[in-house]
Amino acid sequence: MAIVELHNVSKRYRLGDQEVNALTNVTLSIEEGVFLAIAGPSGSGKSTMLNIIGCIDTPSSGRVIVNGNDVSGQTPDQLANLRARTIGFIFQTFNLLPVLSAAENVEYPLLQFPELSREERSERVAKYLAIVGLRKYAHHRPNQLSGGQRQRVAIARALATHSRIVLADEPTANLDRKTGEGILRLMKDINRKNGTTFIFSTHDRRVMNMADRLVRVEDGHITKLGVQSESGWVFVQDKTKGEEDPEV
Ligand SMILES: Nc1ncnc2c1ncn2[C@@H]1O[C@H](COP(=O)(O)OP(=O)(O)O)[C@@H](O)[C@H]1O
Ligand SMILES: [Mg+2]
Repeated sequence: MAIVELHNVSKRYRLGDQEVNALTNVTLSIEEGVFLAIAGPSGSGKSTMLNIIGCIDTPSSGRVIVNGNDVSGQTPDQLANLRARTIGFIFQTFNLLPVLSAAENVEYPLLQFPELSREERSERVAKYLAIVGLRKYAHHRPNQLSGGQRQRVAIARALATHSRIVLADEPTANLDRKTGEGILRLMKDINRKNGTTFIFSTHDRRVMNMADRLVRVEDGHITKLGVQSESGWVFVQDKTKGEEDPEV
């Protein structure tokens, strides 16, 4: 089943009297449970695609369906609810609240769920801090944690709301290689165990190769769709060969 569908999505930004085509006619269907990389050079449209999938941004034209909901038909309140209950975000710069402890950062998005009691919130926080290996760091503030530990807090925060989709925009870009690989392995492990769909962007080939699905973007267009096999990437769509099958 597809958990995200983009149909002919285009995004244009206006910069003064210039128009930037950040995405052009992107059609893509993402199966639930995949560990998918959006790869492409800087400025190719990766963040724009993630922001549109995450309902942070809206397309200039085209349709976006997230978890069965046609996003264009939703009110701002419905969209906020869809985001809060379906989507978790992980950012390159971690985006933790500096005055809150690791545990409070993880708890923060849970405060908007009135159905959760205080005890249930603490249980969730403890559970997800343990999953990311930070049980002992619950009371540390972000500036008392390393980059890799901060990104683990962000992962716990994204998962604590029971998000079905986690979107990660260049999650390893501010980490050294070894720490970045550890973060990717942790995300993949959670993907395998919980079936959470992960969609992450990267311009790093090593990071891209840890994915099991690949969307290659260049200049706002999808140029390749790949599926990881034992012998490497198999491209189900490759614009250079004229084959079309946008299901990944
Ligand atoms: N808010 C914005 N206003 C104007 N142009 C933008 C804006 N956001 C992105 N762009 C432009 O859209 C294109 C794609 O950007 P982006 O999605 O951030 O690429 P990537 O994440 O792959 O580096 C770039 O040319 C960028 O300059
Ligand atoms: Mg970007």
